[in-house]
Amino acid sequence: MKVDRIIRIRDLHKRFGSKEVLKGVNLDVIRGKTTVILGLSGSGKSTIIKHIVRLLTPDRGEVWVEDVDMARADEATVMEVRKRIGYLFQSGALFDSMNVYENVSFPLREHTKMDERAIEAKVRQRLRMVALNPDDVLHLYPDQLSGGMRKRVGLARATILDPQIILYDEPTSGLDPITSDLITKLIRTLQHQLHVTSVLISHDIKESYKAGDYFAMLYDGKIIEYGAKEAFFKTSNPYVQQFIKGESEGPIKVVR
Ligand SMILES: Nc1ncnc2c1ncn2[C@@H]1O[C@H](COP(=O)(O)OP(=O)(O)OP(=O)(O)O)[C@@H](O)[C@H]1O
Ligand SMILES: [Mg+2]
Repeated sequence: MKVDRIIRIRDLHKRFGSKEVLKGVNLDVIRGKTTVILGLSGSGKSTIIKHIVRLLTPDRGEVWVEDVDMARADEATVMEVRKRIGYLFQSGALFDSMNVYENVSFPLREHTKMDERAIEAKVRQRLRMVALNPDDVLHLYPDQLSGGMRKRVGLARATILDPQIILYDEPTSGLDPITSDLITKLIRTLQHQLHVTSVLISHDIKESYKAGDYFAMLYDGKIIEYGAKEAFFKTSNPYVQQFIKGESEGPIKVVR
C-alpha cells in the first residue's frame, strides 16, 4: 500500500541572527497517524511546526501540506490551509482580554456562520472533552486559570473547528500525570474517531510513547533518526538512546 504523506518537509533551513537552528530538516508526516518530534530544549522543534502554518518562512526548503508549499503559497491559500490545521501553542497563547468562552469560540466566529446556541453547545462540549467543567470556567480570564487549565483551554480552542491536522506543542508539559494521560488519550481519540493527523512535540517520553505512531529526533538542526515506534525505541543510535534514557552523559552536547 502506498504511504500517504500529508505533510512533507524538505531541506528546511532557518537561521535566527547568527544562529542556524534548522540545517536541512526532512520529515514526512503520514496521514491519520501521530508523529512525535523529540529533541533538546532549544533544538528547533517549535520552529519546525511554526513553518507548517507559516508563522515562519524558511530561508531555504519546502514545507508541503498536501499539494500546497506553505513557503511559497499566496495568502489566500495559506488561510485555507490554516483552517484545516489546529495548533496548540506551547504557551497556550490565549487572548488575555477574552474569557474562556470568547477564546474557545473565537475560531468558530472567524471561520463559520454558526449561531450563538450552536457555538455555545460546541464550546461546552470541547471543554468537557478536556476535563473542564464549562460552568466553572467559561467566564474566567486566562490570568485566573492555572497553567494546566490554560493548556486545556488552548486544546479546546485548537480542536474547535474539527481540524484535519493538529499540531501539539508540548500538550502535557506542566500537567500532573493523570491529566497528562487524559490529554494523551484525547489525542488518540481524535486520531481514531475523527481521523486526525497529529504532530506532537513532547519532552515527556512516557506520554509521547503512548500517543505516537512515528518518531523523529531533531539534533543539531537535522532529523537524525526517524521510524515507527517499535523500531525507533529499539534503535542503536546512541543519541536517541541517550535522549530516551534521559542521561546527561553521552554523545549529545547540551550547549547552554
Ligand atoms: N523568532 C525568533 N527569533 C530569534 N530566535 C528564535 C526565534 N524563534 C526561535 N528562536 C531560537 O531558535 C532556537 C530554537 O527555538 P525553538 O523554540 O524552536 O526550540 P524548541 O526545540 O521548541 O525548544 P523547547 O523544547 O525549549 O520549547 C532557540 O535558540 C531560540 O532562541
Ligand atoms: Mg518549543
